[in-house]
Amino acid sequence: MRIIAVFSPLGGVGKTTLAVNLAASLAEKGTRVLLVDLDAQSSATTALGLATEPGGSLYSALVNGTSPRGVIRSTRLPNLFVIRSHYELASVDVCLVQRGQHLTRLREVMAELCVLPDFDCIFLDCSPSMGVMTSAAMAVADELLVPLQPGFMMLPAVSCLLGQMQQVIESGVNPGLHVGGFVINRFNGDAGQLKEIAHELHALAQPYVSGNVAYPTAIPESTALAEAPSYGQTIVEYDPQGCGAEAYRALAKEFLERHLIKTTA
Ligand SMILES: Nc1ncnc2c1ncn2[C@@H]1O[C@H](COP(=O)(O)OP(=O)(O)OP(=O)(O)O)[C@@H](O)[C@H]1O
Ligand SMILES: [Mg+2]
Repeated sequence: MRIIAVFSPLGGVGKTTLAVNLAASLAEKGTRVLLVDLDAQSSATTALGLATEPGGSLYSALVNGTSPRGVIRSTRLPNLFVIRSHYELASVDVCLVQRGQHLTRLREVMAELCVLPDFDCIFLDCSPSMGVMTSAAMAVADELLVPLQPGFMMLPAVSCLLGQMQQVIESGVNPGLHVGGFVINRFNGDAGQLKEIAHELHALAQPYVSGNVAYPTAIPESTALAEAPSYGQTIVEYDPQGCGAEAYRALAKEFLERHLIKTTA
């Protein structure tokens, strides 16, 4: 069971869009995915068309020790499951820090989920701030999946991310943490430009990755991808034949190949 934290230190670069739509595209291929919304903004929850409710998030499992199994919900997609968020998650930080559990408690909760035979992988949708929940996600994840938008902020953001990862690694809490892949989002360039970006990323992130770190498939700028969350739908439901869904299906295929996960569809 792999735990993949979807994270970038920049806000609004497509973390939630990536987490929701890659999870949906994997589910469409028969992979059983649990998406955990760790961001108190609850964007992943609402993008799936689900209501946020007190008691519906991981809050009680983290703070009161209740079983996280009780908050797993099914979605319209047969293989996609979710643990929703609620703004109550914003108050987990203080509580866990006071108890000295800020790096350990999420690990304990995730351990309970990892023993379940129901899922092939777990995605954690993180907020962009390096707060307690994000540090906790980095402390438990096998790898980070990082959306990036081309532009002048891209390489500084990667440097910042690698620094944050290095701190987690040096703390000894998760020495195996690495970048599992960068996904170039809102990309309208050509194959040559994409190759150039992949080359720059590889040069910068080499000590923290193995193989080709940038996924060969980039996600294009797409009106349907921007609209789908307002309808509470994933891209494979909202515009199944469009370029956004096509790109996410290609990305899901590459993800499965990279992780050697077999599918039923
Ligand atoms: N490829 C794309 N084409 C068009 N719009 C996109 C694309 N990717 C993301 N968006 C839009 O950009 C906005 C920000 O995306 P998203 O919410 O996924 O970012 P985020 O990194 O999760 O933000 P936050 O840091 O607030 O959690 C959303 O309105 C989303 O619909
Ligand atoms: Mg988000």
